[in-house]
Amino acid sequence: MTKEEFKKIISQGIPDELPKPAKYEKDINHAPIRKQILTLEEKKLALKNALRYFPEKHHRELAVEFKEELDKYGRIYMYRFRPDYEITARDISWFPHKTVQAAAIMLMISNNLDYAVAQHPHELITYGGNGAVFQNWAQYLLTMQYLSEMTEEQTLVMYSGHPMGLYPSHKDAPRVVVTNGMMIPNYSKPDDWEKFNALGVTQYGQMTAGSYMYIGPQGIVHGTTITVLNASRKISSANEGPEGKLFITSGLGGMSGAQPKAANIAGVVSITAEINPKAAHKRHEQGWVDEIITNVDEAIDSAISYQQKKEAHSIAFLGNVVELWERLAERNIKVDLGSDQTSLHNPWAGGYYPVGISCEEANDLMSNKPDEFKDKVQESLRRQVKAINKLTANGMYFFDYGNAFLLESSRANADIMAENNIDFRYPSYVQDIMGPMCFDYGFGPFRWVCTSSDPKDLEETDNIAINVLENIAKTAPVEISQQMRDNIKWIKEAKANKLVVGSQARILYADAQGRIKIAQAFNDAIKAKKIKAPIVLGRDHHDVSGTDSPFRETSNIYDGSKFTADMAIHNVIGDSFRGATWVSIHNGGGVGWGEVINGGFGMVLDGSDDAERRLKMMLFWDVNNGISRRSWAKNDGAIFAIKRAMEDNPELKVTLPNIADDKLIDEII
Ligand SMILES: NC(=O)c1ccc[n+]([C@@H]2O[C@H](COP(=O)([O-])OP(=O)(O)OC[C@H]3O[C@@H](n4cnc5c(N)ncnc54)[C@H](O)[C@@H]3O)[C@@H](O)[C@H]2O)c1
Repeated sequence: MTKEEFKKIISQGIPDELPKPAKYEKDINHAPIRKQILTLEEKKLALKNALRYFPEKHHRELAVEFKEELDKYGRIYMYRFRPDYEITARDISWFPHKTVQAAAIMLMISNNLDYAVAQHPHELITYGGNGAVFQNWAQYLLTMQYLSEMTEEQTLVMYSGHPMGLYPSHKDAPRVVVTNGMMIPNYSKPDDWEKFNALGVTQYGQMTAGSYMYIGPQGIVHGTTITVLNASRKISSANEGPEGKLFITSGLGGMSGAQPKAANIAGVVSITAEINPKAAHKRHEQGWVDEIITNVDEAIDSAISYQQKKEAHSIAFLGNVVELWERLAERNIKVDLGSDQTSLHNPWAGGYYPVGISCEEANDLMSNKPDEFKDKVQESLRRQVKAINKLTANGMYFFDYGNAFLLESSRANADIMAENNIDFRYPSYVQDIMGPMCFDYGFGPFRWVCTSSDPKDLEETDNIAINVLENIAKTAPVEISQQMRDNIKWIKEAKANKLVVGSQARILYADAQGRIKIAQAFNDAIKAKKIKAPIVLGRDHHDVSGTDSPFRETSNIYDGSKFTADMAIHNVIGDSFRGATWVSIHNGGGVGWGEVINGGFGMVLDGSDDAERRLKMMLFWDVNNGISRRSWAKNDGAIFAIKRAMEDNPELKVTLPNIADDKLIDEII
C-alpha cells in the first residue's frame, strides 16, 4: 500500500459501505472468552449501544453479527471493521494530519496495536489480558479519523476508548484527554467491569495500554533490573558485588518473563520456574533466558556451577515453583534472593497453577470444580511459603513482586504474617526497594519514542542521554549517586541489550532534573536537525507521582494516605495545563479494577521554543507533585529531594512536615 492510499483510508474513518465479514483467525493469540454476564435486557442494550456507530441501513446485518460476537466471546469487538493494512509504528510522515502532535499520537496508538507488540491484537488488547486501547474497531477507525483532521485549536475527548468528539480549545491545551474505567466508586468491583465492559460503556486501560504509551517489554526489564540489583545490594557488604548470588523466582509470562534477562543484566545467577512449556520456550527463543531444564536437581546443580564461576546465567526450570522451593529447602541450598511473579492477582482463573496436578487437570478443575481448585491453590501456597520461610531463616532476602503473593498466601492461611499479625513477614518491592530508593527521590520510568521510526535516531538519543547524565553525575549529591551510576550503565548498554520491540523507544529511570535536561537536549537536537523527526516523551504510570496504589506504587506511604487518590488526580490535571500533548487517567492497572488510580501523559517535542517552555514546566510538576506527597508522608528521601527542588526553583514552595516524637505520642495515648 502506498503512503497516499494509507492516508486516504485513515481519513475515511468508518467506511460507508460494509467491509466483508471477518474470519476468526485461529493462529492469532486471542483474548480469553469473557463470561456471560448480561441479562437479556442488558444484551439488547449492548447491541443498541454498538449500533450507534453505524447508519440505520446497516443495522439489521450488523445486529445479527454483533449478537453472535456477544454470545460467543462475551464482548462485541466488531471484527469485520478491523483494517487489513498493517498496524504498526510507521514513520510519522505516513499518518495524515493537520498537526504533527496528532500524527505522533496516531503512531503511538498504532504501536499499541501492532501484532509484534500487542498481546491480543484482534481484541485491541495490548497487555495484561485485559489492557485495552479501544473496546471495538469502530472506535479505532473513528479516533484515527478525528486525529487526522484535528487542528491545534481542538482537543479530542476519549471516554474509555470511545471518541466523544473534537472540541474547540487552544494551542497550549492537550490535543487528547483520555479517561479509562472511571467509575462511581461503589460500582468498581471485578464483576462490574465485566458487565459495563460487555455493555460497551467502559474499558480497563491498564496503565500504558489505554494511554498509548506501551513500549513493549523493555519498560519492565529496566524496572526489574533495578529491583534485582538493589535487592542484591541490600544483602551485600560494602565492596561485595552481585556476582555469584542466586535469585529464585517464578513466571516467564508477559511481564514476569523480564526476570531472567534483568537478572543477567544485574549480574546474578537465576532460576525461574515456569509451568507452561509454551511460555518457557518463547522466552528461550527470544534469548531472554539462557537454558531450560526440566529436572529440578539438574536446574539447581547448573545454577551452583555458575555461582562458583561467578558468571551471570539464567535458567528456566520447567515445572511447578513449589517443587523448586521445596527441593531447595530439602537440600539446604543457600539462596540469596527470592521472589514470585505468578499471576496471583488472578488466582482462581489460571494465574497460579497448584502443585501435584498437571496443567490440563488444573484447567479442568478450575472450570468444573472451582472449590476443589481453590483448595489446591491454597494448599500449594502454604507449601510454597513453608519452604520460603525455611530459606529466609537461612539468610535469603524475599520480597513480594507486586503480584499479590503475600495477600493470597495470607488468605490461604500460610505462615506469612509478622508477629504483630497485621503486617506480612516480608516486604513488597516498592516498600523496600523501589519506593525508598527511587520514587522518593523522583527516579522513575521516563521514556521516549523517535517518530522517524529510524534506529539511527534512537542511537542519537541514547548518546545525548548518556552525555546529559554524565554531566549531571559530576555534581550529583551522594544520596543519588548510586542511581546515577546505575542509569548511566543501563543507557550505555541499552542498544547492545537489543530491547526494542515495535516503535523506536527507550526507557531510562531519571529524576526531575535528569528528565528535564534530557528532554531539553532532545529538543535542541531536533531544532539542529541532528534528529530527523519529533520525539514523544512519556512514562510508565508505575512512577513517582502518577499512581495511587496502596499495595504497590504508594505502599511505602505510612501516614494513612495510601488509600487516597488525590495525587494521581492532581497529577493529570496539573500536567494537562502545563503543556502535555495528551493526558490520561485510569481506574485499574496492574493490581486490578478498583484497586488503583493511575495516570500518565505524552508530550511531543518538535524542536520549537514552545516545546522547550512546556517540557520545563510540565516535567517539573510531573515529578515534584509525587515527591511533595511522599515528603509530607515523612519519607526521608523525599524530604531531601523536595528541599533540593525548592533550592533549584524559588517559585516552588512546598509545605514540609514537622516530625512528632514517638515518645511524646506514647505518653499522650
Ligand atoms: N513488579 C512488577 O513490576 C510487576 C510488573 C508487572 C506485573 N507484575 C505482576 O506479576 C504477575 C505476573 O505478570 P505477567 O504479566 O508475567 O503474568 P502472566 O500470567 O503472563 O505470567 C505468569 C506466569 O506464571 C506461570 N505460573 C503460574 N503458576 C505457576 C506455578 N505454580 N509454577 C510455575 N509457574 C507458574 C504461568 O504459567 C505464567 O506463564 C502479575 O500478578 C502482575 O500483576 C508485577
